[in-house]
Amino acid sequence: MKGLQNEKKDAPVARTPPDAERVRERLLAWFREHRRHLPWRENRDPYRVMVSEFMLQQTRVEVVAPRFEEFLLRFPSVEQLARATREEVHDQWSGLGYYRRADLLHAAARAIAEEGGFPRSVEGLAALPGFGPYTSAAVASIAFERAVPVLDGNVERVCTRILAEAGSPKRAEVRRLLLARLREWIDPSAPGDFNEAMMELGAPVCRPKTPKCGSCPLETMCRARAQGRTTDYPTRPARRLRESWSWVQFVVFDEGRERVLLVQRGPRSGQLAGRWELPGFRSRSPGDLAQEAARHGLRPGESLGAFDHSITHRDYRVELIEAEVAEGGPTGPPPATRGGQISAETCWADLVDFDARGRWQGAQPLPASSMLSKAVRALRAGASQLRLGVAN
Ligand code: ADE
Repeated sequence: MKGLQNEKKDAPVARTPPDAERVRERLLAWFREHRRHLPWRENRDPYRVMVSEFMLQQTRVEVVAPRFEEFLLRFPSVEQLARATREEVHDQWSGLGYYRRADLLHAAARAIAEEGGFPRSVEGLAALPGFGPYTSAAVASIAFERAVPVLDGNVERVCTRILAEAGSPKRAEVRRLLLARLREWIDPSAPGDFNEAMMELGAPVCRPKTPKCGSCPLETMCRARAQGRTTDYPTRPARRLRESWSWVQFVVFDEGRERVLLVQRGPRSGQLAGRWELPGFRSRSPGDLAQEAARHGLRPGESLGAFDHSITHRDYRVELIEAEVAEGGPTGPPPATRGGQISAETCWADLVDFDARGRWQGAQPLPASSMLSKAVRALRAGASQLRLGVAN
């Protein structure tokens, strides 16, 4: 605790960024003396490095260490892992959680075995399944001595504190800046050690709430420390203001009023890409209705009522408007592509194929948006209730 107690509120801030040579020398000297003896550090075989980095993505070092050794006993080489079945890999992964990591590791092993070996460049590694920027840089630097910095949560903390960087490291421009500094600091003759040292410093020393500045090799270069504000960094990303949107959804029934018309979101819809929903639009003024209906090839009718729907950063008031297919508008049979009037596939979905919670249960897969589930639940509850706003 010595370090914290010594923090001086009005101490002058170091103005120039720390000298790269001094950062790397002190950091590496500290690491060589204090590094933990972890099983994947016994040797830097790329397979061992890869397995450890996948395991460490969401799990603490202490939990990973014994599981890593067991995994290596069961699958001693990338080829043996590639030949294993998914069940065998899951069985060996049990207790580590986040099984998607196991699937991606397995897929990466298969790709590597198929190619006859590991790609040695960061770009080659980045093309493997499950290799995001962090894992590609970690494996490239630790296993292949490539001078590419890693930026995980620990390194973000160390770096934003050394630089007293006030922007959130979750923002792209701040990450670019941190990575630029790390590229200057990284030791080209020991990039793996440098990256591991940065990550290691962020764990027992540069801790989130109770940093042990007195034990830190970079204490005298740390601007946050000089400001007496170590734990103010890294700053959290600014909370996005909640938005309120008015939304209209068109409910087009077939003749028997048993099926409704759905459209599929196009590939550029982010997380909603490929999901099915009622045709709809963001309503900015009442005059939009006729124009938007026409754009969908529909003729608007009466309002069936409205319901509220919220996602992480947005509150919707959704009005359901009954509509008819206009001449040349969307037609069946399901799913039917319409001649360019809406840039999506359309289909007619049976209302009975949704369960009581509005989730699709039909024979064919039909990933629905959460707003569709809610709208269907509202429709099933009945138009009269909808008008009373009971559907929320
Ligand atoms: N976290 C992820 N990879 C690590 C490594 N190689 N050393 C220490 N901590 C880590």
